[in-house]
Amino acid sequence: MNLQELREHYTKGGLDDASMPDNPIPFFEHWLHEALKAEVVEPNAMALATVDSNGHPDVRIVLLKGLSDREIVFYTNYDGTKGKQLDQHPYASATFWWGPLERQVRIRGAIHRQAQEASEAYFKSRPRASRVGAWASPQSEEIASREALDALFTAAEERFPGDDIPMPPNWGGYVMIIEEIEFWQGRGGRMHDRFRYWASQEAGQEGETMWTRKRLAP
Ligand SMILES: Cc1cc2nc3c(=O)[nH]c(=O)nc-3n(C[C@H](O)[C@H](O)[C@H](O)COP(=O)(O)O)c2cc1C
Repeated sequence: MNLQELREHYTKGGLDDASMPDNPIPFFEHWLHEALKAEVVEPNAMALATVDSNGHPDVRIVLLKGLSDREIVFYTNYDGTKGKQLDQHPYASATFWWGPLERQVRIRGAIHRQAQEASEAYFKSRPRASRVGAWASPQSEEIASREALDALFTAAEERFPGDDIPMPPNWGGYVMIIEEIEFWQGRGGRMHDRFRYWASQEAGQEGETMWTRKRLAP
């Protein structure tokens, strides 16, 4: 395989200054819808970067499960590696790559745990196996074998035989408050379009978030 010869030419579209909105959040939602329509596999999957106690980055995929106002939400085990990193350094960055549309979105922001009731409402909506799995998996810990992992799942199934499975105390949502968001559209000759928005500290007349926008070099 010759990696140096792998090369895509981006031709699907462009972003022009005049049509970029003042508020990036509905635009982000619009791009998410377009990714869904374009049948991107897991369009709500995002690479989530955190940092460890040495300041070293760590990145993995999680699923976006909520978007409102300036907030995005994902769910995880609070005791796993990312949970510990976020508790220590409550700041993260997330990136979406929608290949068929030649689009990337990057988000940065401060993180906090979601209110327990809101996490419980989402937990209840999950399929039974996912709810059992949340109890069964000590996320990010070493597991001796596949058999040992399956035994943990079976034990959790036996513990909760009915459909009424409570949310584990170490499971729930994280909310990221969007402080920066960037839209990237691939263009020819690597002259891509990039627009980055920053949330201003000052609110608008109705208390809404005000955004600064800049076009960035690709
Ligand atoms: C498509 C996809 C979706 C995923 N969604 C989640 C998710 O929503 N929450 C989660 O905790 N892990 C999710 N994972 C697993 C994570 O990538 C990761 O393996 C796990 O969270 C442990 O990460 P950590 O050890 O850094 O905490 C997903 C993985 C993939 C490939």
